[in-house]
Formats: sequence, structure tokens, C-alpha cells
Amino acid sequence: MTQEISELHRPVMLQRCLELLKPAIKGSKAVVIDCTLGLGGHTEALLEEHPDLSVIGIDRDPMALELASKRLQRFGKRFIPAEATYDQIAEVLAENGIESVQGILMDLGVSSMQLDESDRGFAYAQDAPLDMRMNQQVGNSAAHLLAELSDKELTAIFKNFGEERHAALAARKIVEARKASPISTSGQLNKLIASVIPAAPGKTSGHPAKRIYQALRIAVNDELGGLERALPQAIDALATGARLVVMSYHSLEDGIVKRAFQQGAVSSTPIEMPMQLPGTSPKLSVLTRGVERATEFELSQNPRAASARLRAAEKLEVY
Ligand SMILES: C[S@@+](CC[C@H](N)C(=O)[O-])C[C@H]1O[C@@H](n2cnc3c(N)ncnc32)[C@H](O)[C@@H]1O
Repeated sequence: MTQEISELHRPVMLQRCLELLKPAIKGSKAVVIDCTLGLGGHTEALLEEHPDLSVIGIDRDPMALELASKRLQRFGKRFIPAEATYDQIAEVLAENGIESVQGILMDLGVSSMQLDESDRGFAYAQDAPLDMRMNQQVGNSAAHLLAELSDKELTAIFKNFGEERHAALAARKIVEARKASPISTSGQLNKLIASVIPAAPGKTSGHPAKRIYQALRIAVNDELGGLERALPQAIDALATGARLVVMSYHSLEDGIVKRAFQQGAVSSTPIEMPMQLPGTSPKLSVLTRGVERATEFELSQNPRAASARLRAAEKLEVY
């Protein structure tokens, strides 16, 4: 079974993540939070490498948690599953009576398993109901957004979350088409989008609806809002010398990570003050120069790694 689970999602930039977290994992009480447990690939490798480490594995997807918990059963109490969103780091730590941790890992976005689950509607390649919620018990589905949002709201989503040049055209087409019948499957959406967004030339450019799917997924799961709220909590949860590693998969996510790291790496004393106020010294030392990418070898094994952008930072003593 473990073999089967590990085949559902290959952990991205695994060796680099382990290498970056390693110097911070010391002593017999070290704790790492894996904020995006998924199928537990990164967590499994961490628990194997550090025999005294405990890992809190957060995921909002109950199915991912169930599968990962089975896979990680052999580590006993060293693995602590938490069904939550990663902007609840503070609550998860409080529930477990933990004040600070030695490492935090975020491997953003959806897992290959979620993309492959044909009934969840994440992928334009499969005709399925347009759900796209990572936790199907919470919030509104993509079909609901397509039915309820105005032309203007849909345009904003496609533009801001999909960076889609034809956002207004796509939104107008959807609003027009839904008068006749609700848009509830990916097959229907693909047809509509293909009729207004021309396929870009070249074989690698993907389906014309690719950006629309990305935008809807981000909106349905409030992915960017969640990340904005999570990063300050993650930085606060790190002990001095602890490390934070974040892998994002598109420029919108990476922009948020980059800004949070930049802000963390400077004093928070207002610039007009003549001297630094107590407790406002820089919180972070950034460990990566720009973004790091997967190696050619990894890309040949795992195409999902192609869009990964990794940034890492270490927590400084704040004074
Ligand atoms: C790319 S996968 C992680 C894969 C994992 N590192 C592995 O090796 O198996 C991302 C996971 O994060 C979860 N996720 C996405 N956004 C989340 C959020 N805001 N809070 C908690 N989990 C989230 C998804 O449900 C998904 O299972």
C-alpha cells in the first residue's frame, strides 16, 4: 500500500528541502510542521532521516490526511496529523501545546492525486463536475462561482488569479451561456473557453482554458489569501535558528513569498525613527538567492517540478 501511495505524488525538490532543513533539526525534541502534508512524501523522508524528530502534518484535504496517516503509521506518535488550513498554524500549535518549531515546509498548490481524482474537477483534461474544493465539505464549488458571480467578478478572478488576457471575453461568454443551462462540468467549460480564447501556437502552450482553471482553483480555495495569512504565522512559529522552506508553483504565489521574506529580513522600525525600536530587528535571514529550481534530472523524472520555485529563510534572534 505504501508503495501505491508514494506513486500517487512524487515529492518535489526533496533532497534540497532535506538539506535546507537539516541544520535546524537538532536535539531530541525537534518539531517540524509540514503545512502541506499531501501524501506525506516530504514528511516521510524527514522522519526517516531524523530518528528523534516529530512532524505535524497539516492538510485541508481529509482524503490526503487519511492516506498520508496510513503511510506514516510506522512512525507512531512522531507523526501528528492535523486537518486544518495552513493559516491556522498558531491554533494547531496551541492545540498541541507547542510554542515554537525547528522547521516549516510549504509545498503549495494541489497534489498529483488531487489533479488525477477525476470527480474533483481540478483538471481540464477530464470531463468531471466542476468542484475544485480541496476540502469538499467547506466553501463553494467552482460551478457555484460560475453560476453566481457577476461578469465583473468573474473577469477580476480570471485576470488577477489566471493572468488571462482574454478575461473579460471569457466572463461574458460564461454569463451568456449560463442563461441557457448551468455550467457544471469541465467538458462544458472547456468548450465555452475554446470558443473565445484562441489556442496559443506551439505544442507546449497547453489548453486555452489552463489559466481559467488556475484562476478558479485559486478563487475557490482562497489560495492567495491563505498564503498571505499563513506566512507571518509561520515566521512567528519558528524558534531562533529554525528554517522555513517554501515551494510555490506560479508567480502569484511566489510574489507573496518573496515579499514576506523581504519584509522579514529588514527591521520593522518605521524608517523615520532615528533609532531601532526594541523587538523590531530583522526576523529572517534569507538563505536562497532569488528562486531555486529543480535539477534537469528531477525534471526528467517529474514534470510537475518544472514550475517549482523554492525559497528558504532562517529565523534570527529578534531584539
Ligand atoms: C503539492 S501537495 C503536497 C505534497 C506533499 N509535499 C508530498 O510530498 O506528498 C499540496 C497539499 O497541500 C494541501 N493544501 C493546499 N492548500 C492548503 C491550505 N491552505 N491549508 C492546508 N493544506 C493545503 C493540498 O490539499 C495538498 O494535499
